[in-house]
Amino acid sequence: MTLILGIETSCDETAAAVVEDGQAIRSNVISSQVDLHAQYGGIFPEIASRAHIERIYPVVEQALAEAQATLDDIDAIAVTRGPGLAGSLVVGANLAKGLALGRERPVVAVNHLEGHVYSLWLAGPQYRFVPGQPPADPADPVAPIEFPLVVLIVSGGHTDLLLMTGHAQYTLLGSTLDDAAGEAFDKVGRLLGLPYPGGPSIQKAAQGGNPAAFDFPRVWLRGNQGEQNYDFSFSGLKTAVLRALQALDPGYKPDSEVSSDLPVADLAASFQAAVVDVLVGKTARAAEEYDAREVFISGGVSANSALRAAMIEGAGRPVRVPPLSLCTDNAAMIAAAGHFRFLAGQRDDLDFDVRPTWPLADPA
Ligand code: KG4
Ligand code: ZN
Repeated sequence: MTLILGIETSCDETAAAVVEDGQAIRSNVISSQVDLHAQYGGIFPEIASRAHIERIYPVVEQALAEAQATLDDIDAIAVTRGPGLAGSLVVGANLAKGLALGRERPVVAVNHLEGHVYSLWLAGPQYRFVPGQPPADPADPVAPIEFPLVVLIVSGGHTDLLLMTGHAQYTLLGSTLDDAAGEAFDKVGRLLGLPYPGGPSIQKAAQGGNPAAFDFPRVWLRGNQGEQNYDFSFSGLKTAVLRALQALDPGYKPDSEVSSDLPVADLAASFQAAVVDVLVGKTARAAEEYDAREVFISGGVSANSALRAAMIEGAGRPVRVPPLSLCTDNAAMIAAAGHFRFLAGQRDDLDFDVRPTWPLADPA
């Protein structure tokens, strides 16, 4: 049995977890800072960093206690090295280094995006959807994961479409040229006067709204030969929502009170449908082109119920989604990714620096 302690502090969640053999969660502790940042409508880096310092040690202690493990039982400490906020990343990295030095445990530095990918290794059989079949029983065995996979990572900072041909082997098929999908949700949530973070608020506001009420643009992007590529662009969509608001209410100003007469449910549903169409359309085409065995979606936006339903319907092959608790940032996914790197022999020297910008893969 291999036990990995995961530590994650890249953004606004302070998290630690213990994972057994890369797939069984023994503990998964998350201290969210959402309340601290909500008043700013986004993440305030200095506040995030300070909160991580105050919280990380008790969070790690709790993760070990809940897993009924001590540091002596842990085979390695997996920690997020990047991408993320520098001042947040160093808090987790420094704690991992300190624990490693004090207890002579190896450290495995992990890319946060790879963590999101490996959240799918922690998903039970009921999170694998085959078109036309009922979901599997949670008591069934998990279907083995076979490569190649097409993986869509959609978070607050990233929109990456990847081809994964083996453990830790990725080719970047496309990514966003401007706003990340989650960023678009957050910005449009703000335009609509909805509480931060915008993703869950838009999903909620969209319930009962008509997704065809507004014909927002779907940006497909084309290469030199006129063929569609796998990149994304969401900033024009955000502008289209702003224009619609201004047309509906000539007195509308961003960041001011949104009139209760505005059709917020229709706007939210139409915006969400435009994002989902492009995410599913490009992912399905990549799955076809690269003959993927399955499609994986992960990251905060993969919690979106409209995206999940449309992907399951449209991907043309089995789709795995993470449990809701593992869509947003957590340390179990870092431990799962670290597990496979540990088995592959990765050990990091304790003088490694954090990498605030760190692409998971080179472009195709
Ligand atoms: O992966 P994550 O927790 O943090 C990053 O690494 O960025 O993703 C956070 C993002 C936010 O932009 C949030 O609005 C979005 O995920 N999000 C959602 C939903 N839940 C979270 N977006 C759409 N629908 C949701 N239900
Ligand atoms: Zn994330």
